[in-house]
Amino acid sequence: NKKEEKYIIGFSQCISKDDWRKAMDYEMKVEASLYEEIDLTIFQANEDIEIQKSHVEYMINNGFDVIIISPLRPEPLVYLIERAHDKGIPVILIDRKINSEKFTAYVGANNLDVGRNAANYIASLNEKQINVLEIKGSDNSSPVIERHLGFHKIINNEPNISVAYSIKDEDLEPRMSQILDSISVKPFNYVYAFNDNIAHDAWKIAKSKGVEKSIKFIGVDGLYGTNNGIQLVENGILLATILYPTGGDEAIKIARKILHNENVPKNNILNTTVIDYRNAEIMKNQYDKINNHQNDIENQQEKIKQQQETYSTQSKTLKLVLGL
Ligand code: FRU
Repeated sequence: NKKEEKYIIGFSQCISKDDWRKAMDYEMKVEASLYEEIDLTIFQANEDIEIQKSHVEYMINNGFDVIIISPLRPEPLVYLIERAHDKGIPVILIDRKINSEKFTAYVGANNLDVGRNAANYIASLNEKQINVLEIKGSDNSSPVIERHLGFHKIINNEPNISVAYSIKDEDLEPRMSQILDSISVKPFNYVYAFNDNIAHDAWKIAKSKGVEKSIKFIGVDGLYGTNNGIQLVENGILLATILYPTGGDEAIKIARKILHNENVPKNNILNTTVIDYRNAEIMKNQYDKINNHQNDIENQQEKIKQQQETYSTQSKTLKLVLGL
C-alpha cells in the first residue's frame, strides 16, 4: 500500500566535487523534505561511468519508483536507461542528455541558448575586433557539445568576432600559458569558458602573467556563494556569466507529478540569462532572501523535532507515573 509505504526516488549524480553539483543535490533534498510520501536517496558516481552504471542497475533491481540521473556522458548509459524505461520505471534526466529518446522527462536549461547568450552578449559590446579563447569542458557531455555549437552559430555571422583558439579545460594551464608567452601568435581579448570555475582558473593564469586586465572573462553557471559566478561578476573578475540553473528542485517536482499520475512534458526547459554588473547584486540579494527563508524553515523544523521529543519523553514518564 503506497499510502503507508513511501515512494523511493533515487538520484545518480555524475560529478561530486564542485559547488554547482552540491547545489543541485541540496535543492533536491530540500524539495523532497517537503513531502511526507517521498524518500530520496542520492548516489555519487564521482566521475566514474562504471559506478554510475551500477547505480542504475541497483535502482532497477531494488524497486525504485523513479530514477533521476545526470548522466556523465551521452552514450555508455543508454542501454541501462532504456532497460529501466522498458520496465516501466520513470526516468528523469537532469542537466545532461543521452543518445536515446527512451526516458520520461528531461529537465535543464537549453545549452544551445547558453552558447548563444554568451555570443550575443559579446557581440552587443560592439568592440572593433574581438578574438576569443574558447575553453571547453573536457568531457563529451551534451552541455559541452551544445555550448560550443550555440556560440559558434552566432559568432559565424559576426565579422568582428573570431574564435582565435579553442582548447579543453584539461589542457588549460599549458595551452593558455603557451599562447600568452608567445608573442608571434595572435592574442585574444576575450575568454569564453564553459563554466565559472574554468573562467576563474583562466583569470588566475592571466593574472600570474600580469595580463588579466586586457582580457575579458565570461563563464557559465552564475551560482551563488563564495568564489562562484555571481560573486566573481560582482568583484570584477568575470565580465559576465550565463545563468545555468541546476534544476534540482524541479526534478523532484516532476518526479512527484509522475508518481501522482499527472502528465509531465518531456522537455522541461529552465530559463537562462546573462548576469553582469547590472544585475549581479539583484541576483545575490534574491538568493540571500531565499537562503534566509530556508534557514528559518530548518530552524523551525529543528524546534518542532525537539518539542516532539520532549513531548514523547513527558508522556512516557506520565504513563509510568500513572501506571499505564
Ligand atoms: C558542474 C558542471 C557545471 C556545468 C555542468 C554541465 O559539474 O561542470 O559547471 O554547468 O556541470 O553539465
